[in-house]
Amino acid sequence: MGRFISGFVLLVLVACAQPVAPSAPTAEEIVARGQYLVTGLVGCNDCHTPMTPNGPDMTRALQGASLGFAPTVEMPWGAVAPPLAGGPAGYSDEQFIAFLQTGVRPDGSMARPPMPQFRMDEDDARAVAAYIKSLPQTQ
Ligand code: HEC
Repeated sequence: MGRFISGFVLLVLVACAQPVAPSAPTAEEIVARGQYLVTGLVGCNDCHTPMTPNGPDMTRALQGASLGFAPTVEMPWGAVAPPLAGGPAGYSDEQFIAFLQTGVRPDGSMARPPMPQFRMDEDDARAVAAYIKSLPQTQ
């Protein structure tokens, strides 16, 4: 009897310990996470959005911008951050996602500094790409 009861208790414990399977995020949740990553953490707008004295002009978010700063030593340098809204020109969705995970452009080259070489995990890269693709191209 004792063995039966402890077996029963064990069964109940195992049944209760089953994790609730998380449901896959919706498209809106993925875009919202991408927005949080882009505007709250990685700061793509600091370079790819025209700058004002009060910060990036978010009415022109990720429309591309000339950088307001330059290195004081000779080095490879990208002086213009290209437009990204709607997706960067010449990238398929998968190429953009791979770029965010590796820093490698579709032609196999790397973007010049100060463009960071991001090493996002796949979920973050997909969220960032989904958010950027959702932005309207206004220029
Ligand atoms: C510190 C400034 C800076 C930040 C922050 C930054 N970028 Fe860039 N990015 C640049 C510059 C400058 C270039 C152009 C590099 C070149 O000309 O070689 C560039 C290039 C790129 C390119 C390559 C476009 C092409 O022609 O192949 C993509 C895509 C890109 N950035 C996406 C992003 C995303 C997405 C973020 C945020 C997750 C981001 N960048 C953050 C400055 C920045």
